[in-house]
Amino acid sequence: MNSAVVVEKPRLSVIEAADSPQDTDGFAKAVVDGLTAERKSIPSRFFYDEIGSGLFEKICDLPEYYLTRAEREILTTRAGDILADAPADLTLVELGSGSAVKTRLLIEEMLSSRERLLFTPIDISRAAIEDSADRLLSDFDTLKIVAVRSDYHTGLSILKQRNTGPELILWLGSSIGNLDRDEAVTFLQGIGTTMSPDDRLLVGIDLRKDASVLEPAYDDAQRVTARFNLNLLDRINRELGGRFDPGTFEHRAVYDPDRGRVEMHLVSWVCQTVAIDGMGVEIQFSKGETIHTENSYKYSLDEIDEVMQAAGLVRNGQWFDSEGRFSLNRMRKA
Ligand code: AVJ
Repeated sequence: MNSAVVVEKPRLSVIEAADSPQDTDGFAKAVVDGLTAERKSIPSRFFYDEIGSGLFEKICDLPEYYLTRAEREILTTRAGDILADAPADLTLVELGSGSAVKTRLLIEEMLSSRERLLFTPIDISRAAIEDSADRLLSDFDTLKIVAVRSDYHTGLSILKQRNTGPELILWLGSSIGNLDRDEAVTFLQGIGTTMSPDDRLLVGIDLRKDASVLEPAYDDAQRVTARFNLNLLDRINRELGGRFDPGTFEHRAVYDPDRGRVEMHLVSWVCQTVAIDGMGVEIQFSKGETIHTENSYKYSLDEIDEVMQAAGLVRNGQWFDSEGRFSLNRMRKA
């Protein structure tokens, strides 16, 4: 795997894979493909431009969005158990560094019983990496960070070449929820191929529950999630010369208990034709037609085990928040 060090500061280096895509790559093509299909959709990874990332941080603090708080509760109260049998030379790896607020809890726990720690976040966004790294380094003066700006799979391979010791790989926040069940198996399998027998993977997974709890979590009273969803149309306008009037679209979140997923849509409540000047296309909407923008899969305990097993992993630890809404699952190779 070809890679280069692109940032070198005290206690921080950032590595970039040679041919790593930028996080904005493919937006234009995905939009045109998705909006000219029979059933319109846009992949949810395009929510996270600067404005979308800011709105997502706000979502995490909403009273209705219990996921972040529940996961943080588990990490706060159970960090000791989660790390109980961690070897002294453990390296902490994180897929998607996010705001690193939750990771901080594990870092603190690790540094309470050992001198130093190497933290190696993998993220496609350079801004996300540098923001969280700066904050962590100023709070923990024996922490060292080697961050990799790349997709997860490439990042894990690059780290494997550098790290000789055992790794704990974190995949928090129920990011797995954006993948359908088959994709989740493939993704976990891919992580598994980079894991040694001593490595552990800790995955945050949101649990199935009643629609009366799930739907408000994705359709909050302050309408932050609505803005997060509608920002996709603004982003098309800004970056691709789109002529969407976001005022003619409505945010919708519905839980489908059969599939065990919350779907987010943007609903055109008028019949209209929208040009995207930069792409030379015109998109027609009938009244009530929707753009499917996200799936958030929820898991039963059996479904967690099924996906893990199909991916060649076995569970060796599972923790829940006090209200039983969210799970942290620690696994190793089968
Ligand atoms: C970041 C994918 C875990 O699905 O709960 C939050 C994204 N979408 N509110 C989720 C999201 C709407 C979030 N994940």
